[in-house]
Formats: sequence, structure tokens, C-alpha cells
Amino acid sequence: MPKRSLPLSKVYALIEPGPVVLLTTAAAGQSNVMAMSWHTMLEFEPPLIGCVVSNRNHSYGLLKKSRECVINIPTVDIADKVVGCGNTTGARTDKFGKFGLTPCPAAVVQAPLIEECYANLECRVVDTSLVSKYMLFVMEVVKAWVDPKAKYPRTIHHLRYGSFMVAGETIKLRSKMR
Ligand SMILES: Cc1cc2nc3c(=O)[nH]c(=O)nc-3n(C[C@H](O)[C@H](O)[C@H](O)COP(=O)(O)O)c2cc1C
Repeated sequence: MPKRSLPLSKVYALIEPGPVVLLTTAAAGQSNVMAMSWHTMLEFEPPLIGCVVSNRNHSYGLLKKSRECVINIPTVDIADKVVGCGNTTGARTDKFGKFGLTPCPAAVVQAPLIEECYANLECRVVDTSLVSKYMLFVMEVVKAWVDPKAKYPRTIHHLRYGSFMVAGETIKLRSKMR
């Protein structure tokens, strides 16, 4: 099959795993929320997640200061709010109020859980050795919450600028797994 050359600037869109999440942070009496899709699992247990948080974002300073966050996993019904949180800075705006997202107290960390998300992962930053080079923070999930009614959550996955894939069909291949 003939293939066309892809500009290197577009490679991320083939690999970007999703789901797009909402990262909440809090420090010095202020909390914030941003959209994030550059993240990856690094370990099963304790669960470790690598997250790229740009130093151009207000969240970066809050994350560096507090060394804590919550990774909130939204579904397609609030996709417009997610995009809003990814296109506005919390430096000057209360994004919870602006986009109608409900912050709730977490059990272990200061950053809030987002009520409208079907799962919430309370995290502590455990490794910052790659922050200066890649702005990659390694987080350990210290408490996890999930809506028991969310059987097949329709998460959103960033494909390219402004396009998202919605999780849909589920297939079961358990008999083929080791
Ligand atoms: C779908 C989507 C995914 C994004 N993924 C990331 C990401 O992985 N890392 C990052 O630093 N910014 C990411 N952004 C950009 C931030 O969400 C955006 O810069 C936001 O305005 C930062 O908010 P803040 O300044 O309040 O922290 C993403 C934006 C969108 C719309």
C-alpha cells in the first residue's frame, strides 16, 4: 500500500494515547484545572504515570510547588468543558466556575476531585528528574476513585488539532491472553 510522508510535527497524533484527562492542582490557596493528553502508564503497582506538563501552563507552577495533583478522567458528555480547560489559563480565570465543573475534596491530596469525571486518581509527584529536560513528571497514584455505574466509559482521545476519537466498541479476547 503506497503511503505518504508525514511531517514530523504530526507524529504525536498517531501515538497520542489518551484518554484526555483533566489535571487538577492546588497550592497557596488556589486550585486549577487543565486538559492533558501526554501521559503514559509506567508501572502497575504502585501505579506510576508519566505526565508532560508544559512550563508555559499555570498548572506547572502549582504542580512544582505542591508536588500533588488529581488526574480526573472525563467522558464525551463534558468534552466541550475539557476543551475549554485546555484553551484557557487559570492564571486569571476560575475555570471550575467558568466551565461548570464541581471541585470536591480529595482524601489524600490538596488538589480537588472533579465530580463530573467518572474516575479520579489522587497523585503525588515521586520523580522530577526528567522535568528540566522534558517537563515530564512521574506521579504515583495514592488513591483512586471510580463511578461503579460507568461500565464502558466513553472517554475522549485526542487525534489531531481539535479532533477527538470517542471510545466505543469493546471486544473481549481474554482466552487469547497469557
Ligand atoms: C486536548 C488537549 C490536550 C492537552 N494536553 C496537554 C498536555 O499533555 N500537556 C500540557 O502541558 N498541555 C496540554 N494541553 C494544553 C493545556 O491544557 C493548556 O495550555 C491550558 O490552557 C493550561 O491551563 P493552565 O494555564 O490553567 O495550567 C492540552 C490541551 C488540549 C485541548
